[in-house]
Amino acid sequence: MYADLKEKQRAVSGRQIISLFDDKRAAEFSVQADGLFFDYSKTNIDHETREMLLALLDKVDFPEKRTAMFAGEKMNITENRAVLHTALRSGSGPLIVEGCDVMEQVLATRMRMLEFADAVRSGGVHGQGGAYTDVVNIGIGGSDLGPAMACLALKPYAQGPRCHFVSNVDGAHITDILEDLDPRTTLVIVASKTFTTIETLTNAQTALHWMAEAVERPTDQFVALSTAEDKTSDFGIAADRVFGFEDWVGGRYSVWGPIGLSLAIAIGAEHFRAFLSGAEVMDRHFQTAAAQENLPIILALVGVWHAQVAGYGTRAVLPYEQRLSRFPAYLQQLEMESNGKSVGIDGQELTDPSGPIVWGEPGTNGQHAFYQLIHQGSHIIPCEFMLAKEGHEPQLAHQHQLLQANCLAQSQALMLGRDLPAALKIAKSKGFEGAELQRQASHRVFAGNRPSTTLIYPKLTPFCLGQLIALYEHRVFVEGVILGINSFDQWGVELGKELAKALEPVLKGDSAGGDNNPSTLQLVAQLRA
Ligand code: F6P
Repeated sequence: MYADLKEKQRAVSGRQIISLFDDKRAAEFSVQADGLFFDYSKTNIDHETREMLLALLDKVDFPEKRTAMFAGEKMNITENRAVLHTALRSGSGPLIVEGCDVMEQVLATRMRMLEFADAVRSGGVHGQGGAYTDVVNIGIGGSDLGPAMACLALKPYAQGPRCHFVSNVDGAHITDILEDLDPRTTLVIVASKTFTTIETLTNAQTALHWMAEAVERPTDQFVALSTAEDKTSDFGIAADRVFGFEDWVGGRYSVWGPIGLSLAIAIGAEHFRAFLSGAEVMDRHFQTAAAQENLPIILALVGVWHAQVAGYGTRAVLPYEQRLSRFPAYLQQLEMESNGKSVGIDGQELTDPSGPIVWGEPGTNGQHAFYQLIHQGSHIIPCEFMLAKEGHEPQLAHQHQLLQANCLAQSQALMLGRDLPAALKIAKSKGFEGAELQRQASHRVFAGNRPSTTLIYPKLTPFCLGQLIALYEHRVFVEGVILGINSFDQWGVELGKELAKALEPVLKGDSAGGDNNPSTLQLVAQLRA
């Protein structure tokens, strides 16, 4: 699949990225879309490589597959489901899937959910001790990371009750959150697509007991977000407090619908609609822009060049925006749960690596922690910088400029490095001489020629956050199509769940667990001793 690209990569791997620059490269290797600006000129991609990468799209029938996804075809073949998270942010219908207009239900649920969110904010819907002061979203994975990341990202727009997120089954998580809250003015949202996830149901029971000690009708202060309305009613949550959605929304793609309720309560209906519009604008761009001008496609092709062609095993996502501090974690689920697979759609082993390991932290914090390895370690880590033109603190504009300067400095340092003569000069100025001068200088050399990209966005508004998330969702889709995998299932999380279920009675002492391996039994014995 990538033979020609690999040959090309081998041929140019010693080339200095900086040598590619003429007076046109910066502009020619950048893409703009609806206020977003993406620069990939600091990579080793040249015109010919880009053409070869673009040619991959035709080899995998990409345009047809994109059309099929938006049209609601059953792309998720192992679960026999359509993939229609884009419908959740669409402003209008119809969208006919298997003879039904799915938009009718989507728009009706959105209306009900946003009315509810605003009623919680205004106090029209309240707790047994008065207007809600706090909301606790209990969910995990896609039922947690999206709204948790977005609530933090959009804090300047949040005037509603405080939103808290409980995900871990570790009792410490819920204990630390609930201990500061008044149950009489707390709304609990149980967010679970399947309503079977053990962590979420366990935490929901803990919250119910906590609530029951303080109020007469505890489940009145519970809301459920789920596709499994029978299970939510078994839990005791009234039908009018259940916001349902369809199984064609994957958990990690679900922040746009009911799973986004906590975000809607935090920022209000109007801002939530702006968040959806940002994503819808990105959807339109993704569907209509020519491949070379298409932001998700270019982002994906850069990803393929680095991960599958050059074989770099990880990529760092480095937002220079403190409020995007959960964005790398969000992307980890989005990208790694989607494209971390070893078999293709056809069930055959992949011959090339699947999606890379995604990680990151906001700048400038990361600079003082792991950037050492990025600059001088022996692994090449393609870095994806993200940076806003404007912050939300005009009174601290000088700090924003310092932030921007740091971000630009990093990508420059990665590309240019520092050669031995420059390092010798620095070491000499510090008074080193002779053999010691050489030794000291060698520690100050930066190989450089390390690839990075920079995405600039205007300001982290609800609209912009919607664009950014949708951009990465579509990037994952494009990469998945090129890799030939199903980006929409997640069988890799199942085995651990099954084994945990079987180990619980062993830890309790109700079962000897003889079918476990000696190492695990030894660990159980240690824990029980
Ligand atoms: O275990 C993985 C997973 O299924 C994710 O895909 C999902 O986002 C998360 O668990 C939570 O699932 P649910 O929303 O059904 O509780």
